[in-house]
Amino acid sequence: MSPDIKIDIGRARSSAVTAEHGVSPAELKAIAPRVDEGHGALKADRARKRLGFYDLYKDKATLSGVKKSARAFVAEGYENFVVLGIGGSALGITTLVTALKPSYYNLLSADRRQGRPRVFVMDNVDPETFGAMLELCPPEKTLFNVISKSGGTAETVSQLLIVLERLEKSLGKAAVKRHLVVTTGPSSAKGAKSPLQHVKTTYRLQGFSVPANVGGRFSVFSPVGMFPAAVLGIDVDALAAGCRAMDRRTSKPSLKDNPAYLRAAVHYILSERKGKSIAVMMPYSDRLRDVADWYRQLWAESLGKEGSLSGKKPLQCRAQTPVKALGVTDQHSQLQLYLEGPNDKVITILEQSAFECSLKIPNFSARKGGVSYLRAKTMKRLIASEKEATADALRDADRPLIRITLPQVNEHALGQLLYMFEVETAMAGRLFNVNAFDQPAVESIKVFTRKYMGGKA
Ligand code: PA5
Repeated sequence: MSPDIKIDIGRARSSAVTAEHGVSPAELKAIAPRVDEGHGALKADRARKRLGFYDLYKDKATLSGVKKSARAFVAEGYENFVVLGIGGSALGITTLVTALKPSYYNLLSADRRQGRPRVFVMDNVDPETFGAMLELCPPEKTLFNVISKSGGTAETVSQLLIVLERLEKSLGKAAVKRHLVVTTGPSSAKGAKSPLQHVKTTYRLQGFSVPANVGGRFSVFSPVGMFPAAVLGIDVDALAAGCRAMDRRTSKPSLKDNPAYLRAAVHYILSERKGKSIAVMMPYSDRLRDVADWYRQLWAESLGKEGSLSGKKPLQCRAQTPVKALGVTDQHSQLQLYLEGPNDKVITILEQSAFECSLKIPNFSARKGGVSYLRAKTMKRLIASEKEATADALRDADRPLIRITLPQVNEHALGQLLYMFEVETAMAGRLFNVNAFDQPAVESIKVFTRKYMGGKA
């Protein structure tokens, strides 16, 4: 367990960055009735089981099934664990691995990995990368987990078919079930089976279900994220406890008590009234870097819509474009633009208050050369100082900033953080007046792809 994560909107307030660029108490008060209305609608959808993501962490039976199955597979001693999936089927586990496994995990010895396999998340169809993975991961030493809610995504199906052929040729049909696990959604309303379901039945594979009421980008706490996490020794119970802790906070209706609603409201006000059309997520932590990637998909695919909740088209979709950055690396890349370019961004700094090591910078007395201030300090102090410097520079340039602080980077804190972002996105959908839970435009790309591959449009 770790304490609650902290959300501080102080530097996004008009008192910090002027009324032209920040939110005022009056604006927050004015939006409160809409937040209240959104809260009622989301609560009703949750109660009617239309929005399954809220309650995934409570599903003890599924979590214990996931853990049991992971234990059995780990006991087989696989050297590699490969996830085949894309979008919401891949970004969650990538985020958890980067945050919760040691840096350079795959390069550690089996002992240092505590008998857990190396991990590869294959979320693209670049043949060079995929071919390289196949060379590194011979069938007999590898467990594959193919993940697709629809069970028919071209990228994932093509990856699966390549892997399946290799497994069958090298190990024989009967052995495939020891090397391939399927995570997929239910059959279509008419009972039609997806390609993944066909493969699962044909090869008698073990598998997990993605609930029908949970969308891909909201599925990290379902078996989509939890089975890979359990295989890799990530504590799924502590993740669930983190969700529970945040659920307590985000079940409250008021902006004052609910950090997810507060962030949604601040982003909405800054977007609608202050021209902040870009939402930047900037972790000051390598371990949290992929949270920005996960959040980017969640925000973009959920809010970038032209249809309104009522079915009528709004005049103009004004959802924000999410951008990811990394502190301090992007201080030498994007920050110049953030400070002196168009004042069209709301920036979130995501920070961890504790690092596991501090790394002293050696004494430099003989060769001062203008960096004597570094002498006998630590790298931990340097990253903290650079973060404060960025925050101050942003304030002085009247750029609104929200800070999120994790007391520690562990399962409990990650559970809180990702759950909060999911609820925030759900509320942002209500405020921006769009359905946060579909992705109609992504379908058009699938149609064009089928055409280019010689299939029916
Ligand atoms: O959030 C979403 O719904 C998408 O990003 C999907 O996760 C992505 O398109 C992959 O879909 P599927 O899991 O059906 O293969």
